[in-house]
Amino acid sequence: MELKEVREGESRLLVPAVQVPEEGEVFYNPAQRLSRDLSILFYLSKGTDVLDVMAATGARAVRLAGYGLKVVANDRSVEGVRLIGKNARLNGVELEVVQEDASRLLHSRFAGAVDLDPFGSPAPWVHCALSSARKYLAVAATDTAALCGTYPRVSRRRYGFSARKLPNYPEIGVRALAGFVIREAAKLEIGARPIFAHAYRHYYRVYFELKRGAGRADSVLKELGDYRDVGPIYMGNLWDEQTVKGMLAQRAEIGELAKKHLALIAGEMHHPQPFFHLHALCRELKIPAPPMSRVLEKTGGVRTHFSPLGFRSSLPEEEVRGIIASLVS
Ligand SMILES: C[S@@+](CC[C@H](N)C(=O)[O-])C[C@H]1O[C@@H](n2cnc3c(N)ncnc32)[C@H](O)[C@@H]1O
Repeated sequence: MELKEVREGESRLLVPAVQVPEEGEVFYNPAQRLSRDLSILFYLSKGTDVLDVMAATGARAVRLAGYGLKVVANDRSVEGVRLIGKNARLNGVELEVVQEDASRLLHSRFAGAVDLDPFGSPAPWVHCALSSARKYLAVAATDTAALCGTYPRVSRRRYGFSARKLPNYPEIGVRALAGFVIREAAKLEIGARPIFAHAYRHYYRVYFELKRGAGRADSVLKELGDYRDVGPIYMGNLWDEQTVKGMLAQRAEIGELAKKHLALIAGEMHHPQPFFHLHALCRELKIPAPPMSRVLEKTGGVRTHFSPLGFRSSLPEEEVRGIIASLVS
């Protein structure tokens, strides 16, 4: 396999030279630097050990180990674990490298935090990841069409909820993923509370704080509900203020996109209800869209990282509609 060297944050990484790997080849996606950057801030802020069960080239694991966190990096791919070892040596960091099937490994180990980052759906591994993770679980999904309602039958089969595609679909997809993990956790009498989440193109990721006990599981379950005939999905706040502040306080080197997303999230975390899509609202109201700046000013709203055409407000939807209509008349 031909390799090239790239830089991510403070780490040097050897990754496959080809952009699109063949089936079964090791995978490195530069676009996912955003997700790795944010995860580094998250795990550093929590000071936890991390089990990266699908580590591929070790891009996340090696960077985390570079900051002194205890990390186990696993991948079932032989090429993958070789590359993780090379990348660890290249950066002079220590981490444990394992080549094992994710389900087997998760059944045999505990970790402060488990990071689950598969191709496609994480659904097959969520149950065993919940048994392995002591305090935190991060779950990523790239089967966004199933989560955001493009294929309602797949949503029902894979994630157990009724779906349809809504204008604010990226957030609804993230909430559907959160709802699924919360229900899986409840079966094990674990309360899995979302404390950070983000979406970018075809990539959704939610971080959970885990607390054991039937009562805790019940209390998170109470935050599931329906939203415009989509559900059950998680309807509580996607962000915990202390967690976001803890991430903002980290000094790790991250890219501009991660900085931008984190700043937007810091602004939107105080508005728990799903974002409004300005153009979709205006289409329904049959009016032209007023400038976003005016909408934000009049609704006390803020922008959202989920969409450049979206905004969050704590006002009820009817009031938001009335304000937008008044801006145009
Ligand atoms: C999307 S990539 C992970 C990307 C990586 N986390 C990163 O940020 O660069 C998914 C990885 O999961 C691995 N994988 C898929 N199924 C697996 C399984 N059952 N057990 C262990 N690893 C698996 C693949 O070999 C691949 O390297």
